[in-house]
Amino acid sequence: MPENVDIAASYIKQGKVVAFPTETVYGLGANALNPIAVARIFEIKERPYFDPLIVHIAETTQLKDLCSSIDDRVYALAEKFWPGPLTIVLPKSKAVPDIVTAGLPTVAVRMPAHDVALELIRKSECPIAAPSANKFGQLSPTCAHHVRKQLTNVDYIIDGGKTTLGIESTIVQLAPDGFTILRYGIITENELSEILPAGYGSAKDQTFAPGMMKSHYSPRKKLYIAYDVEPHLDISKAGLISYSGKLEKDAYKKIVRVAPNKDLKEYAANLFEALHSLEDDEEVNVIVAEPVDESGIGRAIMDRLKKAAYAWC
Ligand code: TXA
Ligand code: MG
Repeated sequence: MPENVDIAASYIKQGKVVAFPTETVYGLGANALNPIAVARIFEIKERPYFDPLIVHIAETTQLKDLCSSIDDRVYALAEKFWPGPLTIVLPKSKAVPDIVTAGLPTVAVRMPAHDVALELIRKSECPIAAPSANKFGQLSPTCAHHVRKQLTNVDYIIDGGKTTLGIESTIVQLAPDGFTILRYGIITENELSEILPAGYGSAKDQTFAPGMMKSHYSPRKKLYIAYDVEPHLDISKAGLISYSGKLEKDAYKKIVRVAPNKDLKEYAANLFEALHSLEDDEEVNVIVAEPVDESGIGRAIMDRLKKAAYAWC
């Protein structure tokens, strides 16, 4: 384990803000039980206070401190998917400051599958509230360079290389009669249904998730999903994010192949990196991304692409 985890943990204990790797994207973390430390996350990200944060834990036993009630389905989900890219929205306990949950009666919790993240939480001796380590609304970071590109004023950054999964966790909310997916991710509806047989979408008290905005994850350049490409678009200055290869044309200025084995997990893992590299490429003024079927992991990919393209429609 790198020595810098000790330094980062000492910063968290002092109420400072640390960027750290997880298996999904980099997080911008602070002690979840310290509202002043958490407020700095919002400042650094320029994130509106109505958008709540995910609290990261290293042991399932920490759930008891954060949640007012935990039903058996939560332990079943934890057993199957933690550590891993699943966030569960649960009734919050009084210990969780309102700034973390944006005043909601619920708290979103997850246990990341990344040794550095888990060690950081353990050594900090507190749960860590962490959104993705990007400016609000912009591209999510999948390496330390992406964090440095967007954020100044972070007290410490742990460089753990490239994240493996590349898109944010699936967020699930439970209701007495079912569950609702608030954000699609690598863990799919089908996988959740195996543990939650009551079925998807039967939850009557579907909560509005503050993060369900139409525009999000936006690159600084115009982005088209290929089915939207305007006939007059001059692709000689465009960068193509290519999945299957079928849209590749010599006329594109740059082609980024995100999935050498034509596997959706590869597309997800490389999507934000591809968007960052084309956003930074001076020879490219517009980005075109290849769409995929909206099922399974494809749904999570299309969710990111649609939100990233929305600002440019
Ligand atoms: O993979 C991930 O989840 C990454 C890594 C760092 O763990 N984190 C992440 O955080 O993506 P963030 O803040 O970028 O996205 C968290 C989403 C937001 O859309 C927020 O609105 C939603 O989770 N959220 C947080 N607490 C919630 C709650 N109590 N009810 C509903 N949605 C909630
Ligand atoms: Mg985010």
